[in-house]
Order: sequence, then structure tokens, then C-alpha cells
Amino acid sequence: MTQVTTAPPAAARRAAATAAPGPTGRLRALLAMSGNPLDYLTGLRDQYGPVVRIPLGWRELYMINDPEAVHEVLVTSQRNFRKDVMSAGRGKWAAPLEVILGNGLVTSDGSFHRQQRRLIQPMFHHERIAGYGRAFAELSDDIQSGWRDGGRLDLHVEMTELTLAIVARTLFDVSLDSDVARTVRTAIPRHEGPMRWDSLPFARQLAKLPLPGNKRFYAGRASLHDIVDQLMAERRRGDGQGADLLSLLLAARDADTGEPMEDGQVRDEAITLLMAGHETTASSLTWAYHLLGSHPEARERMHREIDEVLGGRLPTVEDLPHLVWTDAVLSEAMRLYPPIMGLARRPLDDFEVCGHRIPKDTFVGIIPYVVHRDPTWWPQPELFAPQRWLEHPPPDGSADELTGHAVRPGRPRFAYVPFGGGPRQCIGNTFTRMEGVMALATLGRHWEFEPVPGFDVDPLARITIRPRHGLPVTARRR
Ligand code: HEM
Repeated sequence: MTQVTTAPPAAARRAAATAAPGPTGRLRALLAMSGNPLDYLTGLRDQYGPVVRIPLGWRELYMINDPEAVHEVLVTSQRNFRKDVMSAGRGKWAAPLEVILGNGLVTSDGSFHRQQRRLIQPMFHHERIAGYGRAFAELSDDIQSGWRDGGRLDLHVEMTELTLAIVARTLFDVSLDSDVARTVRTAIPRHEGPMRWDSLPFARQLAKLPLPGNKRFYAGRASLHDIVDQLMAERRRGDGQGADLLSLLLAARDADTGEPMEDGQVRDEAITLLMAGHETTASSLTWAYHLLGSHPEARERMHREIDEVLGGRLPTVEDLPHLVWTDAVLSEAMRLYPPIMGLARRPLDDFEVCGHRIPKDTFVGIIPYVVHRDPTWWPQPELFAPQRWLEHPPPDGSADELTGHAVRPGRPRFAYVPFGGGPRQCIGNTFTRMEGVMALATLGRHWEFEPVPGFDVDPLARITIRPRHGLPVTARRR
């Protein structure tokens, strides 16, 4: 006789679920998090498994590490989650990012976010981004014009300048010496004002104190608002035909109501794209160069590919499918050093995942760095091995173990989440991948970078993961 089994209803499953395991000691966890959170969190995953409960100051963080559970949070049950994690626990807190980005795509929630995403998504379709290909290549070519053979560079600074130039051009059609670029560079210092107090209790109050850093931050924010307002006014006086993202934001109309966005909302969205779109890409490129610096065979293979495909000319979008290894280098760099530290969510209702109960209104976190180093899905997870990303492994079998595992159909999609997933997946995903590969290819035609002996590259994990003291290198013309 066939036995039919049915899954227990969700409520029964929740009742049977147990509390998630995790460390004790609120202060200890807070200290560990403010020291070296990446090693600490990876160690907790090794010790406690797919769901870990971490007491952090006055809050509890539930760290989700299992790809199926990540899928559950980001996709299947996504309507049960909000991004306003600072509201978890006691009362409403203004999240630091909101203070900078306002109510743009990164920080908005619920039906308002869905409406805005519908409006903005077409601006990021593949064909439209392909139209920026030339800017990606030309601006990458410009950035290297001042480099000299044997000169010392901080590649993190150079990559931040490059990605700022790209976002300034594609978003506002302005150059690096514009007021926008100057203001972003100088007036919104990354770790002042609310960003500085991010993980501390009373962050909102601390950010309001009349401290020099806070004052600089708010003055910088005000000048950025003024500049974006001026650019919007200029666009309105123009013919409305501009191809930059600001013109497209102003021209966008809601599919149902036919209404445009209000000016304040256009400004929030533009500042969101500006801020979300450059530091992340700069970090991914910096980490790629860091890893290439200590893996000469991978670097030489990339240069061979660039020489063969481009023969010395600038890359175009049509070259991208042929820059397979360069693309794999970028994917692997974002596996080892995903530029965004964590995806934070607040559950609206209790839920159950991997047999553990997660109470509503707590703080759920997905840490791509931890997920990407799970040996179940990534053999030798610490190893930089771009060959994991190749569909056709080299015939000598040298990459079989890594390649076979990485592309085997069984590896869950959500074992790799540098861009998140589901309806809140990074809207700039295609943009940044094209930009990154074209930058590596453009620069790789003429340059390679030697690490500075004895310099220790230490990841600083806050909202993003970047090298704490930059990436000094010696530039060598090739
Ligand atoms: C390597 C580069 C990048 C990485 C690693 C990255 C990563 C991410 C991640 C993980 C999220 C999801 C956050 C969450 O679910 O909580 C996200 C969202 C977002 N990203 Fe990116 N990003 C990158 C580049 C860009 C670029 C170039 C742009 C724009 C030009 C951009 C714009 C956005 C926006 C607007 C959102 C919010 C989307 C929404 O919630 O609807 N990002 N990004």
C-alpha cells in the first residue's frame, strides 16, 4: 500500500520549531562584531550551523547561512520581511542609510517600493546598459592616462575615482571635475555622521550631536541636495531627450496612473543610485586586483585573454561574451569579498526556517561573505579559483574538482548572493558586471600591478567590505 505523507501545516511546523543555537554574552558579541566581524561570523556558522542567534547589544541577530533558507527569506516568504531593521526591538530608529538615501529604492519598503521598482527597472534593462558600454571603456582608459611605469598607486582610490566618474557620467552626464563628483568625494565622507554610529545603540541621538564630523556630514548632504536640485532644474529646461539616468527618472511615468515622480523622490532615487552605484563596484575591482596580485597564473591568463580578444583596442559590449576568464575573475573576487556586508531584514511575523523559530520584529541577517565560504558548496572555500566559474574546464583536468563542483546543477543559486536575490535584488547587477569586466579589460591591455611587499590587506567590514588601508601597488606597464 502506498503511504501518503503530507507536510505539516505552517502553524504546526512553527510550534514544533526550536530556538536557534548561538553564543551567549551580549557585550562579547558586540565587541567581536566591532572588531573582526567576518572571522567571528564565519566561526559562528562553523560552530552552530545554518541558523545562528547572536545577541547584539539590545537586539538579536538571526544569521541565516543555508542557501535554501536564504531563498526562503529573499524570495518565497519575502512579503513577510521589511528592510527597516532599526525598527526591530524598541521603537522606530532612523537607519543611517535612510539619512543619506532618503526614501529611494534601497531603503523604501512594501507597496511604495514595488511601485518605484516597476518605474525604475526599465532603465536598467540590458540593452539600455549596453548603451553605456562606451563610457565604461573610455573612462577606464582616461583614469590610467596619468599612471607611470614603476609608479606607486593606491588602487582602491583609483577604482573609487573610476567608478565615481562612471556613475557621474551615466547618471548626471557630468565629469569628474563637476560639483557632483567633488561633493561626493569631499562632503559625504563615508564614515562620518550617521555612518559612524551605525551599529551602536542611540545611533540616532549620537548622529544629532553637534560634533564636527556630524556637522560636515549634514553640510555635505545639503550641498549634494542643492546640486541634484540644480541638475533637475536644468533637465526640465532642456528638450527632455537626455539619455542619462536623471533624465530618465524625470521622464518616467507610472504605468497605471501616468503620474511622474515628485521632485523630492527623483532626488532620493538619484542619490541612491549615485551612492549605491560606485563604492560597491570600486570594492569589487579592488578585491579582484588584490587577489590577482597574489595569483600570477590567474593574472597572466587574464592578460592573455585580453590580448587575444582585443588586440590592443578598447573593449566593446560585443567583446564581453569572449572575456570569459576576466568575467570569472570578477565573479570569484565577489565570492571571496562580496562588497556588501549584509542583507538585513525584519520579519513581520514569526517564522520557521531549518527547524528553528525566528520571532517577529527581530533582526534577520544574510552575510554573503559567510554564505560564500560554505565548504558544502565551495570546495576549498578560501582558495581564489576563477576556474570554478567556467562551463568548460581546461582539458588537462587541473580544475576538475573545483569546476565540477561549482557549475554542477546541484549547487543552489542562493549559495552565491553578492547582489542579493528576489524582488530586492540589486537593480545595478548588469550595469556593474559590464562595467567591472570592461574596466579590467581596458586597464589590463597596458598595466599589471605588483603588490607592495609586506603590506597587509585587511578587510574593513561595515556596510561594505573594503580594504581598511587601501591597496597600494606598483604599476608596471606591460
Ligand atoms: C559590485 C557592485 C554591487 C554590489 C555588490 C551590489 C550589491 C547589492 C545588494 C546585495 C543589494 C540588495 C540589498 C538587500 O537586499 O538588502 C543591492 C541593492 C541595490 N543596488 Fe546594488 N550592488 C552593486 C552595484 C550597484 C550599482 C552599480 C547600482 C546602480 C547604478 C546599484 C543600485 C542598487 C539599488 C538601487 C538597490 C536597491 C534595489 C531594491 O531594493 O529594489 N548597485 N545591491
